[in-house]
Amino acid sequence: MSTSLSARMSTLRVSPTTALFARVEELRRQGEDIVSLNVGEPDFPTPENIKEAGIKAINENFTKYTSGNGIMPLREAIIEKLRSDNGVNYEANEVAVMVGAKQALFAALCAIAGEGDEVIVPIPCYVSYPDMITLAGGKPVLVKRKDDFSLDLEAIENACNEHTKAVIICTPDNPTGKVYAEDELRALAELAVRKDIFIISDEIYEKIIFGANRHFSLSSIEGMKDRVILVNGFSKTYSMTGWRLGYVCGRKDVIANAVKIQSQTTTTPPSISQYAAVEALNGPQDSVRMMVEEFQKRKDYVQKRLGAIQGVICHEIQGAFYAFFDIRYFLGKEYEGIGTINDDTELCTYLLEKHHVAVMPGSAYFAPGFVRISFASSMEVLKMAIDRIETGLKAHKC
Ligand SMILES: Cc1ncc(COP(=O)(O)O)c(C=O)c1O
Repeated sequence: MSTSLSARMSTLRVSPTTALFARVEELRRQGEDIVSLNVGEPDFPTPENIKEAGIKAINENFTKYTSGNGIMPLREAIIEKLRSDNGVNYEANEVAVMVGAKQALFAALCAIAGEGDEVIVPIPCYVSYPDMITLAGGKPVLVKRKDDFSLDLEAIENACNEHTKAVIICTPDNPTGKVYAEDELRALAELAVRKDIFIISDEIYEKIIFGANRHFSLSSIEGMKDRVILVNGFSKTYSMTGWRLGYVCGRKDVIANAVKIQSQTTTTPPSISQYAAVEALNGPQDSVRMMVEEFQKRKDYVQKRLGAIQGVICHEIQGAFYAFFDIRYFLGKEYEGIGTINDDTELCTYLLEKHHVAVMPGSAYFAPGFVRISFASSMEVLKMAIDRIETGLKAHKC
């Protein structure tokens, strides 16, 4: 008998976003005026029609367990969405509703990758992918993306071996704002077929896309439906982060395994949220259009402001609501009252503690030398935050 803790847990990181959030809260409690650009959720309320559908579900007593893979009306609405938006036909047992896209990703990873299996993660990447793979029992294999954040297909191919089970990608991407081009995704699909591996495609930012950029879903490529595990959700498009609802689509046996994970952990996704999500997909989409228009304005502003700071390199933000910019110019320099700042984490700590603006270090996304800001905040907040970032960055001695 022993009260020591699980060995597997010792390799897991506390989510860096959670750690920063705790420090911001602490500073605010001390009375500091902190502007926070670290949050990964839309600042808009959940649209009224969706909230009303949730209230109706409560009043009609849809407040119990549901079937393990989600209520049929919601799976039907998802199937219709996938057909009309993504041009791919799924059957009901190829779709499962989950407790957020995060649980959908984790269940999908558990479904395909166990002890000794490897999953390739192009970096920079969403903070949770490597830890989820480890928690599932597999091994994350981190492969750098190109300087413009496109996929390095040669490096991915070189990282494949007999243990490789999948590659996991996100488009539009958190943290870089990259939207992978159709030809790039087609080349990745060919690679997956050649190497006989899955592709987990996280498409949660699908609707938040700017200018002439277009979302292309890998599962729509002929012959790829069974090889692609498509993950999406309601958190970002419908501003429903707290409703905890996402979904996973793919080969029947993969989905059956993912549902097993859910049945043994959370039993079912939340019933009330599922009824609200039916309305989200089947109801009017004006609120989505309005939100994306607002994000577009903020994106233009953020891109222009960052681009005007000497030393900052920020690629075109194509989708999602993040700017991920190169700050290496500012490292190894001395700052008033602080001394030399050597890396992105020290720079973010300096910006928070001295200039009262919370931003995420690129290291959290396995990309040291970068900073991520979220523009899911009002223009007023963004202006104040970027003013502070600019003042902080410019305060170095030559
Ligand atoms: C790339 C990516 N995937 C998945 C998620 C998780 O979404 P959900 O709230 O549906 O669990 C997030 C949330 O920030 C994300 O950025």
